[in-house]
Amino acid sequence: MASKTKRHLVIPDTQVKPGYDLSHLKWAGRAIEDYRPDTIVHLGDHWDMPSLSSYDKPGSRSKEGSRYRDDIDAGNEGMEILTEPFKGIKGYNPDMIFLTGNPENRIERAIEDDPVRLEGVIGYDDFELCGFRRYDFLEVLQLDGIVYSHYFQAAGTGRAIAGSIDNRLNKIGQSFIQGHQQGMNYGTRVLPTGKIYHGLVAGSFYRHDEAYMGQGNGHWRGLVVLNEVEDGNYDIMPLSISYLEKKYGG
Ligand SMILES: [Fe+2]
Repeated sequence: MASKTKRHLVIPDTQVKPGYDLSHLKWAGRAIEDYRPDTIVHLGDHWDMPSLSSYDKPGSRSKEGSRYRDDIDAGNEGMEILTEPFKGIKGYNPDMIFLTGNPENRIERAIEDDPVRLEGVIGYDDFELCGFRRYDFLEVLQLDGIVYSHYFQAAGTGRAIAGSIDNRLNKIGQSFIQGHQQGMNYGTRVLPTGKIYHGLVAGSFYRHDEAYMGQGNGHWRGLVVLNEVEDGNYDIMPLSISYLEKKYGG
């Protein structure tokens, strides 16, 4: 009997900005070429948009347009590097999903803040998605029994659900995958019925250190492959960035 199981490949936050090394994106593309996942999910925070970072603070104004364009171009170049190794492979047409993260969402916030000047001038249309379908910031996506979102919010308060995997599984109520938070945190819960819920937080697929993280830069970085995905259950196979470098970096 043919198997119904799928393979997902998860790309955590890539945080692309001008002038940063993007070779790991090529390694990711090579891994996709090798592993041929049915579904590729990029968890967001790809266009890091430092030119609009002032929009994180209420009441601040935008920076000049040339830096905006540089940020867009850097992310677009990253998308091209990522998809180049597997695009055009005959008979391979993965479902490619991109979840909008909070840095990308700065574009929407900038427009809301200054619609007269920015409406129709900047926008999500500037992203070259290279075959990915974009979902809006915090849109929740159901895929083979797993819910995906950039992060999850608590009902009622809208606050980001945080803490242990067990706590998150309690609040989310089923297998979930999110990015947004550095490193990798994974756990399962087995119900008396034999059903298994998996929780995965994976938020870093980049090589640079973030200045604001200081000693926190030692976190895990990599891709995550999910084998045998069916009805929320799967076998997890992390591919660390150092493993990818060994395999594809030569
Ligand atoms: Fe984020």
